Amino acid sequence: MKIQGRTFVVSGGASGLGRACVRDICAAGGNAVILDMNEELGASLVSELGPSSAKFLPCDVSDTSSIASAVDSAVAWIKETGKPLGGIIPAAGVGNPGLILDKKLRPVSLESVDFVLSINLRGTIDLVRQFLPHLAGAPPEGSDGERGVVIMVASAAAFEGQMGQVAYAASKGAVAAMTLPMARDLSRFGIRVVTIAPSMFESNMTAQLSDTVRKGLYKAMEFPLRPGQPEEFSSLVRHSIENIMLNGVVIRLDGATRMPSKL
Ligand SMILES: NC(=O)c1ccc[n+]([C@@H]2O[C@H](COP(=O)([O-])OP(=O)(O)OC[C@H]3O[C@@H](n4cnc5c(N)ncnc54)[C@H](O)[C@@H]3O)[C@@H](O)[C@H]2O)c1
Repeated sequence: MKIQGRTFVVSGGASGLGRACVRDICAAGGNAVILDMNEELGASLVSELGPSSAKFLPCDVSDTSSIASAVDSAVAWIKETGKPLGGIIPAAGVGNPGLILDKKLRPVSLESVDFVLSINLRGTIDLVRQFLPHLAGAPPEGSDGERGVVIMVASAAAFEGQMGQVAYAASKGAVAAMTLPMARDLSRFGIRVVTIAPSMFESNMTAQLSDTVRKGLYKAMEFPLRPGQPEEFSSLVRHSIENIMLNGVVIRLDGATRMPSKL
């Protein structure tokens, strides 16, 4: 899939890994629709990239009607620009750690579990689901008749969740697990599905980690001995868009880091 001349929808596109994808896509001649709840960051990214390449739409991915109105506005913008949809990148996500049972024998609240699942899992499915009819209707490209690609974001926690990550790991494990069936469902339309599972990357999410947790995570790293940079994530997204043989796969992006039991 060529990035140039196509539009890519990025949820969580106002910050961190999603923002790096938006920048990369626009630098490669594509257009980006940024869906996010952070209007300030979204607006500043559009002023950096220019309103002819980037469009910010406020959207809460845990709210199905909010996605529906974002789809309508995105489709209208795509009609205006004449750059058909080429991909969906659901990168919005939250951490919200919590032990399943704490020292005082209090179980994790179901509200906090629902909060994580409704954004990371249900929000991913709903966003993809609502944009797919438009991706399947995009003009096919090249001799394979490719229409587009869905690139989901899992996490190392899908495989080695740490203490306090039951809900987060459940959400990311589910995203990893649905990669292959989604690719199978969408093959008839010429749409691929790739999931990237990053270890620790610099972003607003990881900026909130305490020094102790951060130091512990460094011990689990092999090489390089540092968190990933958002641009290292977006360069794999870009490759995943461009390489038609990547399909139905979960790719770890972690410098051989394996999360330990305790930090
Ligand atoms: N940074 C890491 O170390 C790391 C590692 C593994 C996976 N991830 C995953 O990468 C994705 C991006 O995270 P990040 O590190 O860039 O974090 P980030 O906090 O910098 O960006 C996340 C963005 O999602 C947006 N968002 C949150 N809830 C939303 C909602 N309900 N609707 C729409 N937008 C919403 C936020 O406003 C924010 O702009 C997440 O899915 C995260 O779980 C991150």
